[in-house]
Amino acid sequence: MTMAVFSAPGKIYLFGEHAVVYGKTAIACAVNLRTRVSVERSDDVVIRSVIGTTGIDHAVHPYISKCIEKMRSRAEIRGVKIDIESDIPVSAGLGSSAAVTVAVLSGLNEEFGAGLDKMHIASLGHEIETEVQGAASPTDTYVSTMGGIVVIPGKKRIPVIGCRIVIGNTNSGVTEKKTARLVAGVRELLANSPGEVMPVIDAIGRIAEAGERVVNSCDYVSIGRLMNVNHGLLDALGVGTARLAELVYAARDAGAFGAKITGAGGGGCMFALTDDPQKVAAAIEDAGGTAIVTRITEDGVRQEC
Ligand code: PMV
Repeated sequence: MTMAVFSAPGKIYLFGEHAVVYGKTAIACAVNLRTRVSVERSDDVVIRSVIGTTGIDHAVHPYISKCIEKMRSRAEIRGVKIDIESDIPVSAGLGSSAAVTVAVLSGLNEEFGAGLDKMHIASLGHEIETEVQGAASPTDTYVSTMGGIVVIPGKKRIPVIGCRIVIGNTNSGVTEKKTARLVAGVRELLANSPGEVMPVIDAIGRIAEAGERVVNSCDYVSIGRLMNVNHGLLDALGVGTARLAELVYAARDAGAFGAKITGAGGGGCMFALTDDPQKVAAAIEDAGGTAIVTRITEDGVRQEC
């Protein structure tokens, strides 16, 4: 029996989340936390992950079940065995659902010869995320498929920076439709005080534009400074929490170039940019978070064997 093994990365927002909803510039990056899947022809459908072993099951494995259904209209798939293993914390704003979707689609595409290219994988992945979640931005699936640092909305690739990233998970705030709730909160704030809040959103967009320049010149001090300003503005939009702030300040006090929320906020994760990842990780753990040391990666979805 042949087997296709693929992995796909998670992502962070270097700059610009929330303001991107209003068409402003943002910068998202693939990080080297990966979801690995193996796809093997079989008599029945068997999906195996840490959550359990099922067949097509939209309650337990909604993304993978959708992947199989969508690919069935593109290739003949009678039975398949799919095994999932992941480094990416779930529902933490790191794009875990996009990574599993992109990796499974890629594995099915290879094993059953559906002939999709990466652009198709990214857009089909976005379609699946939208159907499962009700709404989804195309950023997660695009970045997980293509890898690297991507300037949104134009999807321009810029060179990857080598500096280490430490992600700090607050392990809090994980609720159903968290992103939708936080996006709605910002919209309400904007509707109530447009004259005061729109300049904050504009400023986040300008930070991302300036961020592109300093990323291109690998100026870590300036990237860190802009991350810190971006974090303050996200706090101003009401998406920060005390636990996120504690991890952000712990990382800065430990000497990080900068630290900010990544993604929707309201709990979830922050990250720091640093050349001393062990020290920053220890500070995040001392402040009660779970630290993950990683780096930005050029590699999107890739075949492992
Ligand atoms: O927390 P995440 O990774 O789902 O990111 C949400 C990013 C927002 O800008 C808040 C919303 C969006 O769809 O762009």
